[in-house]
Amino acid sequence: MSLADVREWVRGATSIAVLTGAGVSQESGVPTFRDAQTGLWARFRPEDLATEQAFRADPGMVWDWYVMRRAMVARVEPNAGHRALARFQQARPGRLALITQNVDGLHQRAGSTGVLALHGTLQDDRWLDRPRPCCTALPPQEGRPPRCGRCGNLRRPAVVWFGELLPAEVLAAAEQAARSCDLMLVAGTSGVVYPAAGLARTAAERARMVVVNPGPSDLDDAAHAVLRGTSATLLPQLLEDGA
Ligand code: APR
Repeated sequence: MSLADVREWVRGATSIAVLTGAGVSQESGVPTFRDAQTGLWARFRPEDLATEQAFRADPGMVWDWYVMRRAMVARVEPNAGHRALARFQQARPGRLALITQNVDGLHQRAGSTGVLALHGTLQDDRWLDRPRPCCTALPPQEGRPPRCGRCGNLRRPAVVWFGELLPAEVLAAAEQAARSCDLMLVAGTSGVVYPAAGLARTAAERARMVVVNPGPSDLDDAAHAVLRGTSATLLPQLLEDGA
């Protein structure tokens, strides 16, 4: 299938679901997770950082890693792929549901609304243990990480760590979008992490599913079309009239 064919599918679709991964932020300068030469995991192992166990074992080190990632994301801008998705949503309200595995907040900064952030967002914190009245009585005490000055409860990034459940209501909305769409675009994901990758397989059972990726992904086999290219190049061409 060609780009022109998929453009026609976009025009003819009444309900589009888009699933994105780290690849859509790559052209903004945010490293992906598994690209060997630049991936965030290249220097670390996920289980050494993005788990509750790792955080409890060394809160300062894990907190510092997220502070570094927050600073990095604050320095970059959404790219043409993020902007094309936001513009499509604004021009055609209600026709596009955006599901993302990304925690960088770039879709939201580009203007996308109702973003189903399966893995949470980097910019938010929450309490590590169930908060007690003392935890909310006063602002957290500064530190690496900040903590409750009374009971010592730690603040942690409000992202979904390996082994943790995804936010139930976000996942349910994403599953509903995957089941009810007549077209799903899957951009910038290796398709190796579930349940996110399962959403693409669910959509492919009864709707057209298109992969947008410069390289091979684990979802290529289930796709009705695979467009080899980057999201900042292809998403504007797919979503914008006259692009
Ligand atoms: N445009 C589109 N896709 C790209 C681009 C680009 N410019 N650059 C790289 N890619 C593709 C890569 O080919 C790869 O298939 O993006 C994908 C990135 O894959 P991963 O690094 O595995 O990121 P992702 O799929 O989002 O990881 C899923 O795993 O580590 C966990 O929670 C983390 O949300 C993450 C999840």
